[in-house]
This record gives sequence, structure tokens and C-alpha cells, in this order.
Amino acid sequence: MALELDARQRAMLEEMHVRVWWPQAPAAVEQPTPQAVPAAAAISEPISAPIPAPVPAPAVVARATPAVAPPAPAPQPARPAVAPADDGRAAAIAAMDWPALQQSVAGCEACKLCGTRKNTVFGVGPTAPQADAPPRVDWLIVGEAPGEQEDLRGEPFVGQAGKLLDNMLRAVGVSRHGEVRGAQAAFIVNVLKCRPPGNRNPALDEVAQCEPFLKRQIALLQPRIILAVGRFAVQSLLAGSVPDVQTQPLGRLRGKVYRYEGVPVVVSYHPAYLLRSLPEKAKAWADLCLAMETVKAVESP
Ligand code: URA
Repeated sequence: MALELDARQRAMLEEMHVRVWWPQAPAAVEQPTPQAVPAAAAISEPISAPIPAPVPAPAVVARATPAVAPPAPAPQPARPAVAPADDGRAAAIAAMDWPALQQSVAGCEACKLCGTRKNTVFGVGPTAPQADAPPRVDWLIVGEAPGEQEDLRGEPFVGQAGKLLDNMLRAVGVSRHGEVRGAQAAFIVNVLKCRPPGNRNPALDEVAQCEPFLKRQIALLQPRIILAVGRFAVQSLLAGSVPDVQTQPLGRLRGKVYRYEGVPVVVSYHPAYLLRSLPEKAKAWADLCLAMETVKAVESP
């Protein structure tokens, strides 16, 4: 498998400190410049960091554990499975169309976060062809919860983490507005539609109350791929299909394609974590390549 990357995309990756190997530019005229980059060759080699040994990234087409096992991650606290929200409310949300769903999120008072939020954050994506229909999207990116900036603006991933997310998506030809010619369109949402005060972790009851919104968004958008970034997104989406997802470190869940209501799901790190951990960026790049390959496979089985 090879991923086509043009010079602009390569420059973007370099800027993000995601180093992707490709053959050197030819010295002789007869040698053509390679067009295809083996995506599996993504390596973590921060440009300025004095780390000699590259961190292994999983082979992009592999659906299993990377060839070289990464160091054992620190154990994570067990989280019990999310309790389902009230059945009547969940059933009502499951029957909503797109405008009703937007209204329902905007006026939601199902948990205490409504008392501290400035804005609800429904999600963002390309403009829908009709006002009362969901937009057509290829990718759905699921994050954790709005932060301070997102709460103020009512839009997900507008801070530094969002910039990195946008850059990484753009490098594989995906855009949250679908505005770039030929780009695949992404819709971006969070598990929680309201900001937890002080950016604390989402609480179980908050996730449970918001879960029907996410489920309905997915049912209406019908994305071709879901990229779950960070452990709250991963736990929410895989709780029904991966029995020990609450206790598995995220790193162990990567590199495989899961399903949520029939839609393929790829697991990756949260962009805010990537901002703090340069070596993991190469792994996130491999995750993006896996997602891209999955979309292509759905396109042409
Ligand atoms: N982190 C998230 O998970 N979502 C946002 O919208 C912003 C930061």
C-alpha cells in the first residue's frame, strides 16, 4: 500500500514534526521523483529533538499489533461501562431529524453542565445541501468535550489541539469544511456537547446523557469512517463491542478497525496529548493512514 503525498502535504507533516520517509530526490535526471510514499514508513523522528532511536509506528495496513511492541503504557484507572440514559429520552432522540437534534442539543438540560456552559457545541462540518438535512460527510472525528475556547465559540476543536487536528487531516486530504477542492469532508463532534468546568474529565452520567446525541449524529451523518481521538471517545464508541475497553490502554486499541453501528472506527490519540508528546505524532499519522486506507477499501472493495 502506498499513500500519495504531494510536496505541500509533506511540508505540512514536517512542520507538525511528523517525519515520513520517502526516497531522496534523484541526483540523475533519468531517475523520476517518487510519487508514492509508503505510508508504513512513517517514523517518529522529531526534527529538533535529540532522540536517536525512532519510535516504531504500526504498519498502516496491519490490523494487528505493531511488529515492534511499544513500551508497556502506564496502567489506566478502570472506568465502569457507561450507564444508558433514560430510555424514553434516548428513544425520542433516536427518532429526531437533523434540525430537531440541533435544537435538542442547544436546549439540553439533562445534566448539570447546562448550568456552567456558555454554549453547547453540536459539531462542525461542511454546509448541508439543504437546511433541514445533515451535511454529506466522509469522516466523523469524535473528540472528548469542549474546552474553554470551544465553549465560548460553540465550535469543537478551535484551540491549539484543533489546529493540529486540522493540519493532520489536511495532510491526508480531509477538511472540516470540505472547502478544499477534492478534499474529503469531515464532521467534528465531541462525546460531550457541553464543557466540563475547568476542563475536568467527563463524568459517567454526563457521558450517558450525551450518548444518544452522538449516536443519532452518527446515524444521520452516516460517515464512511469514524476517527475516535482520545480515550473518552474510544470508550464511548467501543463500549458495546470491546468488552474490556474501559481498562485497555488506548495504545493497545490502535491499529485495528472496529465498528460502531456498522461504521468503521479507527482509534487514535487525542490531539491535545499529541501536542505534549512528539513521538506519538508518528503513530497518529499511521492511524490516519489506516483510516484513509479503510475509506478507500470501502470505496473499492
Ligand atoms: N478537546 C476536545 O476533545 N474537543 C474539543 O472540542 C476541544 C478540545
